[in-house]
Amino acid sequence: MDMDKIGMVQIGVGNWGKNLLRNFYNHPQIEMKAVCDVNPDTLARIKKEYPDVNVTSSIDELFASNEFDAAVVATQADKHYELAKRLLETDKHVFVEKPMTLDLNHGKELVELSRRRNKILMVGHILEYHPAFVKVKEMVDAGELGDIYYIYTSRVNLGIVRQNENSLWSFAPHDISIILMLMGKEPSTVISTGQSFLQKDIEDVVFTTIHFSDKKMAHMHVSWLDPHKIRKVTVVGSKKMVVVDDMESAEKIRIYDKGIDFTGQYSQYGEYLSLRIGGIEIPYIKNQEPLKVECQQFVDAVNTNTSPLSDGEDGLRVVRVLTAAQDSLKQGGVPIKINYK
Ligand SMILES: NC(=O)c1ccc[n+]([C@@H]2O[C@H](COP(=O)([O-])OP(=O)(O)OC[C@H]3O[C@@H](n4cnc5c(N)ncnc54)[C@H](O)[C@@H]3O)[C@@H](O)[C@H]2O)c1
Repeated sequence: MDMDKIGMVQIGVGNWGKNLLRNFYNHPQIEMKAVCDVNPDTLARIKKEYPDVNVTSSIDELFASNEFDAAVVATQADKHYELAKRLLETDKHVFVEKPMTLDLNHGKELVELSRRRNKILMVGHILEYHPAFVKVKEMVDAGELGDIYYIYTSRVNLGIVRQNENSLWSFAPHDISIILMLMGKEPSTVISTGQSFLQKDIEDVVFTTIHFSDKKMAHMHVSWLDPHKIRKVTVVGSKKMVVVDDMESAEKIRIYDKGIDFTGQYSQYGEYLSLRIGGIEIPYIKNQEPLKVECQQFVDAVNTNTSPLSDGEDGLRVVRVLTAAQDSLKQGGVPIKINYK
């Protein structure tokens, strides 16, 4: 084994996992040693495409070899906890897909375990590495948008209909991670309503409102039962407004110099508010594959033993909001306070 390289294995190489495998396999500082998947057809495909990577359907066999430093977990979410736990307990660095866990206590346990074992725990909140959102975050931090009043997001399309989790847990981790990153603070209350049309008790469409202190709020619409494919985030600030449309191939960000200013002087009701309808700017953003940036972050985190942006704590913040949203959903939309204990 090349001593400079990180020995890696991957567990789960389905629809999304194969993209992670492509990136990590091609990374110059990674030696992809083995892939584990319980689906024999998937394994056969991987063996054909990557003849030099060992494949196994047995997780015990993978652990028995013990010749790796880091692992990627890209199974369906209901397996994340037990696999990540076992990996951390055997002193491996872990990259786990979103949502980190389906249970808040499981999430806390993983964060604690990674701290105790001094191992990297990173969650696949890919949008935090997306050049468009990195740019918007820079603008927010530089005060260019002013005070952020509210954010709303749409993540809807037709399919893939999941059987182990609803559209909230499947899609909203992306939106929540971006909302929390841009707001830069922890929310207080969540209200969520939705409906299951295709399968019993698995919501196809969910509408969630997240409340923060200082009247700030965010709204998310997620669905796999929709005629449109929309991936859009709108941020309304006191100075400027920004729309990120990830379905646009090049012009993903539009910055609207629009707002309503307080003039401070008025003789009649309403006159103290003046509309500002300025131009629209489409900034240049780097043409980088977000997944590649994300994989590089994991490599850097392991090499330097420093927390990545989407570390276990970040994963836990997202699971906290999801848990409150799920409680609200099941109770028909009652406001649920987020549990910070
Ligand atoms: N970051 C993103 O943009 C993004 C996009 C899609 C999916 N995801 C996430 O990636 C994960 C996987 O999603 P997917 O769409 O690839 O699902 P998938 O069902 O296509 O693939 C999951 C794979 O894991 C395998 N598997 C299940 N249990 C296993 C076990 N115990 N041991 C070994 N292999 C096992 C399955 O056989 C399957 O091949 C999910 O957590 C999902 O939320 C992330």
